[in-house]
Amino acid sequence: MAFLNENYLKLKAGYLFPEIGRRVREFQTQHPQADIIRMGIGDVTRPLTPAVIKAFHDAIDEMASVQTFKGYGPEQGYDFLRQAIVDNEYISRGADIEIDEVFVSDGSKCDTGNILDILGRDNIVAITDPVYPVYVDTNVMDGRTGEVQDNGYYKGIVYLPCTEANHFVPEIPKTKVDLIYLCFPNNPTGMTIGKDELKRWVDYALANDAIILYDAAYEAYISDKAIPHTIFEIEGARNCAIEFRSFSKTAGFTGTRCAYTIVPKTLMAKDGKGQKYPLNQLWLRRQTTKFNGVSYPVQKAAAAIYTGQGKKETAETIKYYMENAAIMRKSLSDEGYKVFGGVNAPYVWVKTKNNMSSWDFFDLLLGKANVVGTPGSGFGPSGEGYFRFSAFADRQKVLEAMERIKKLG
Ligand code: MLT
Repeated sequence: MAFLNENYLKLKAGYLFPEIGRRVREFQTQHPQADIIRMGIGDVTRPLTPAVIKAFHDAIDEMASVQTFKGYGPEQGYDFLRQAIVDNEYISRGADIEIDEVFVSDGSKCDTGNILDILGRDNIVAITDPVYPVYVDTNVMDGRTGEVQDNGYYKGIVYLPCTEANHFVPEIPKTKVDLIYLCFPNNPTGMTIGKDELKRWVDYALANDAIILYDAAYEAYISDKAIPHTIFEIEGARNCAIEFRSFSKTAGFTGTRCAYTIVPKTLMAKDGKGQKYPLNQLWLRRQTTKFNGVSYPVQKAAAAIYTGQGKKETAETIKYYMENAAIMRKSLSDEGYKVFGGVNAPYVWVKTKNNMSSWDFFDLLLGKANVVGTPGSGFGPSGEGYFRFSAFADRQKVLEAMERIKKLG
């Protein structure tokens, strides 16, 4: 009999969102009449915009003709999309990123997990708590941790608690770490980081030869001009950071799948003998071996968000979701909940009342109001007693959900 990867046996539970889905399905089976409103997983509900759909259709038509048909594309993405990303996301913000530092992919969830392929097992990993569970679970799967402990933390990971006391922005590690996961605007807390604070992280990484794995999947939701959209706005980041970006939440691509990762050519890591190598080359090698690229029509559709019309339409969609967030923030605050996030991010992070546990609040909301959110403790021990609402729902459903929560008292 073949051996399995025993690291998978260390995983303490199923992945968070399927677990929520399972509980909701069970409830629905027992209460078939219940009109459930879903504000749990951050899945978008607004359709792809007309400019995106037109580009998608046109590209499909190209696939129907022998003159314009495309087979395998470049594994790292077509230049038309990579150049549009460089111009619109980086050069426009004064960040010096070049086309061969952009790697188009089918999702940031995959990329944040896959990046571990090119990083050594002995790296000490620092992860915020609460956190997007993918960063922890993929490190467990890859053998970079020990067993889970009684406090919910895996042995070997340096956890960086994000609490009300530090405004949900982690403190710089007191010990030396090699890999640091940061996500801003943050999933799940919806909080952001300023340029000065982010500069402190870059300085730490440079001083300690560490790498920051920066997840900026929600940057399109930033409206405050003082908040950086990319870590590459910070001087020195080219030598210490990899950035993950996605079209999922920016332009409604959760089902269509398109994202990208920036690996600067100046970013180095060393082998066991201390010899330095550029990670850009390793990632290219990994992608060309294990990935065949995103389909041509999807990349054409993604590039359409950078046209004049595409930009206007994308901004409208983001405005819609952020109006949802504002409605949720106000309504929940009026009901006496302590509310965080939801200003430059599509997630609203709420403290439960009377120290109710996150899962008890989940059961209460589902059972009494038929509203689904995500228990904060599912994102890590420091999320206990908190709850995350996603603003990606339909407006009428948001209003109805808030009304039902109000009736709960
Ligand atoms: C979330 O709800 O945290 C996200 O939708 C998960 C994801 O983007 O994979």
